[in-house]
Amino acid sequence: MPVDFKKLFALIPEIYSSLKEDGLLLASTGSACTANVMTIGWGHIGILWYRPFFIAYIRKSRYTHNLIEETGDFTVNVPPKNFSHVTEFCGTKSGRYVDKVKELGLKIEESKFVKSPSLSECPITLECKVIFKKEVESHDLPSNIMDAFYTRNDYHTCYFAEIVNLVTR
Ligand SMILES: Cc1cc2nc3c(=O)[nH]c(=O)nc-3n(C[C@H](O)[C@H](O)[C@H](O)COP(=O)(O)O)c2cc1C
Repeated sequence: MPVDFKKLFALIPEIYSSLKEDGLLLASTGSACTANVMTIGWGHIGILWYRPFFIAYIRKSRYTHNLIEETGDFTVNVPPKNFSHVTEFCGTKSGRYVDKVKELGLKIEESKFVKSPSLSECPITLECKVIFKKEVESHDLPSNIMDAFYTRNDYHTCYFAEIVNLVTR
């Protein structure tokens, strides 16, 4: 069943308000790791090729970047109200060095259409499958953006991912 655009778009205020406040929780997986969660503060929901899309911006230095490159998918989870400690932890520690799911006691479950897990305590999960990606490149950027965000050569990859399932709990 394709995702219901009307249901998805009705949730945009809630999703965007989390994005702007503490951030959303992006979960991924890979052969060396069952589940890793990172906080994201940049992203969009929209329509591309008549399909619902989430675009995420992940720097190449993130462990999550390796995992998405391996599986080609991720989930975006809207944290519940009392999750500031989780968004803070997942936004400052890397899954390369710490098992964030174990450390925080996060409950995870299998997703329906992607390999990446979903976070059971989150009221909304978007299952996302990468269809297209684009590297942010220095020659495309105005110098004020370069100076503010890319002095360490750590560019974002823009992942254009189809939302293949919407779960509300
Ligand atoms: C509120 C907030 C928003 C963030 N947004 C992003 C983002 O959109 N893209 C990104 O690459 N890093 C972002 N980060 C930083 C990552 O969450 C952080 O580097 C994390 O430790 C990466 O985890 P990983 O190495 O396990 O993937 C954000 C951090 C915070 C606290």
